[in-house]
Amino acid sequence: MRKKIVAGNWKMNTTYFEGEALAKDIAGKHKEVPAGVQLIVAPPFTHLCCLTGPLREAGIGIAAQNCANHESGAYTGEVSAAMLASIGVQYCIIGHSERREYYGETDAMLLEKVKLALQHNVIPIFCIGERLNEREAEQHFEVVNQQLQKAICQLPATDFAKIILAYEPVWAIGTGKTATAEQAQEMHAYIRKVLREKFGAAADSTSILYGGSCKPSNAAELFGQPDVDGGLIGGASLNGGDFIAIAKAMITGKG
Ligand code: PGA
Repeated sequence: MRKKIVAGNWKMNTTYFEGEALAKDIAGKHKEVPAGVQLIVAPPFTHLCCLTGPLREAGIGIAAQNCANHESGAYTGEVSAAMLASIGVQYCIIGHSERREYYGETDAMLLEKVKLALQHNVIPIFCIGERLNEREAEQHFEVVNQQLQKAICQLPATDFAKIILAYEPVWAIGTGKTATAEQAQEMHAYIRKVLREKFGAAADSTSILYGGSCKPSNAAELFGQPDVDGGLIGGASLNGGDFIAIAKAMITGKG
């Protein structure tokens, strides 16, 4: 059985006090989420230490949105996996398309980040996905395959077994344009096939989340697909009610 996961990526949103209010709202509504759905929240770095108390008490996982590709040292402005682990952060989003696109993060850097996170027992939520022009040129499978080959497929099997994947087509992120349930399923099944070729049956235990304009109105259909094990939610995770409604759709979707 794969874990069902709904993770909220707040990106660079909320001041500390706005974040505190949102965390309390989500924690208060968490009892509505059916057992068997793991909720994870990824607030900005500044919020990770202090405002996460109510989330942790409710059993919600805490994630960072990024970590450094170095262990420690003279890297001004960076936050290491060891630092995250030292304040009890359990997960880290790595390879989000906004990091790849705006901050020049390469596959090689992302592999370093994944390895460092794992060394410190922080579980990577590793993002992959094609741009619009790549889909239009029908290169989407090859783009995603390369992203997997250059990072995740380089891991030893014991490390691979720990990670969470997120398929996030870049053209669907923050655009209001969601992949259809069929497009999501087709790509998730492809990702699992690539992983099975490398890691065998272990690929059947890896949770693969969908991300990109996921909202309460489309979540159940997306989550109803056999290879979609949950969601990585951006915009809609900034509203406690919507985020919880999406998490509930995980069960409606899977029947
Ligand atoms: P979105 O973002 O839900 O706002 O499209 C998803 C993501 O980038 O993780």
